[in-house]
Amino acid sequence: HWHQWRAPRATDVRSPCPALNTLANHGYLPRNGKHITVPMILKAVTDGFNFKADALMVTIAKFGLLASSDPTTLNLDDLKLHNLIEHDASLSRQDFALGDNLHFNETIFTTLANSNPGVNYYNTTSAGQVMHARLADSLANTPNVTNSPKSLGIRGTESAFYLSAMGDPITGVAPKKFVNIFFREERLPFAEGWERSKTQTTLETVGRLSGILLQESNDVPTQPCEPHVLGP
Ligand code: HEM
Ligand code: MG
Repeated sequence: HWHQWRAPRATDVRSPCPALNTLANHGYLPRNGKHITVPMILKAVTDGFNFKADALMVTIAKFGLLASSDPTTLNLDDLKLHNLIEHDASLSRQDFALGDNLHFNETIFTTLANSNPGVNYYNTTSAGQVMHARLADSLANTPNVTNSPKSLGIRGTESAFYLSAMGDPITGVAPKKFVNIFFREERLPFAEGWERSKTQTTLETVGRLSGILLQESNDVPTQPCEPHVLGP
């Protein structure tokens, strides 16, 4: 089957983004992770997750392209470029200054995996608490940590993204089982009962959820200015 999950091969490249990696592992993006255009990303996020190709996705995809030294395509591993989209206090990757900001890290993911105890779903309250805990860890332990208005905005968007992609883009409730497979295996959990949301994820739904998440997290920037990284 064309969109079956297949683990990446040794020569395939992947990103710090669990969603783009999942899309590549299912063949919605090239399985080698290379020579990817903005329109290819827009089609893949719609086909795979029912994310609308609106101003939010177009902007993120164009920012992603800036990480590449090629004018029209990117390789997924280009996206590890620190402080373009990639930031500290990630949910599942180590901070840049500590070593590996690209690959999934189960130790980092423990904070999210252990959140919302006693129930089988994550929600905006638990996701906000996870954001806060991850930032506190980075502020305490990472040299040259970035926590700017931009990185905070991106972090809120990404937490809205996993709740929307694996759960409900309106309520922000997502089954733990699906979210954990998405991060750990970079796989669409069809076999476990997940299906692509019938509700489209848009600039408006993400804006609403990320606003709630940032409030719940109580996170604030600890530096006023952005490190301006616009290319490799
Ligand atoms: C990180 C989801 C689209 C680039 C993330 C994270 C999530 C996520 C949940 C946080 C990972 C973590 O903190 O450990 C999604 C979803 C998407 C999507 C559901 C659409 C369906 C994109 C696009 C790009 C992108 C279009 C750029 C072309 C990145 C990058 C990171 C990231 C560079 C690393 C940020 C970091 O944690 O340091 N994404 N993403 N994503 N995403 Fe995506
Ligand atoms: Mg990161």
